Amino acid sequence: MMPIGPLMIEHRLIEKMIEVMRRQFLRWETDGQLDPLFIDMAVDFIRTYADRCHHGKEEDILFRDLAKKGLSDEHRKTMEELMDEHRWGRETTARLANANEAYRDGNGKAMSIILECVKALVDFYPKHIKKEDRHFFIPVMDYFSKEEKDAMLEEENEFDRGLIHERYKAVVEKAREMVMGGA
Ligand SMILES: [Fe+2]
Ligand SMILES: [Fe+2]
Repeated sequence: MMPIGPLMIEHRLIEKMIEVMRRQFLRWETDGQLDPLFIDMAVDFIRTYADRCHHGKEEDILFRDLAKKGLSDEHRKTMEELMDEHRWGRETTARLANANEAYRDGNGKAMSIILECVKALVDFYPKHIKKEDRHFFIPVMDYFSKEEKDAMLEEENEFDRGLIHERYKAVVEKAREMVMGGA
């Protein structure tokens, strides 16, 4: 498998979740009320899977190795756009998580911020994924030898192996903080 194989498979799961979020958005817009627990789930999915696991492999492995190559102006520009888009996704998800907390606290303005963020994210992800799948991933594979591609794939697998441990280490830290404070 090429190193873009796992990334493209991950795109399919992200699309699936984004479609669910889109439906929730339409329902909430009609009903005028929303479900903060669903937003927790969506924020966790985007942060842990779409950003840490998926964008993490794109940025820390594929883009890192591409940056060492003599990229065409077009490919360099697209890679910079993709990284800017990842940053925007992180900021928008943080805004969504903060607005969800505000909503729980009874802040009347939070609902419109939540709807705005969810709408922005469900519009953003399909476009971002399309740009990578159709215009970037396949052509940039030509910059690498077979050995380089194999090494990237292996590193991606290693990256994934570490994630479950990282994730639950963070959960335990958070639990300790909740129960024991800084002790
Ligand atoms: Fe990406
Ligand atoms: Fe991606």
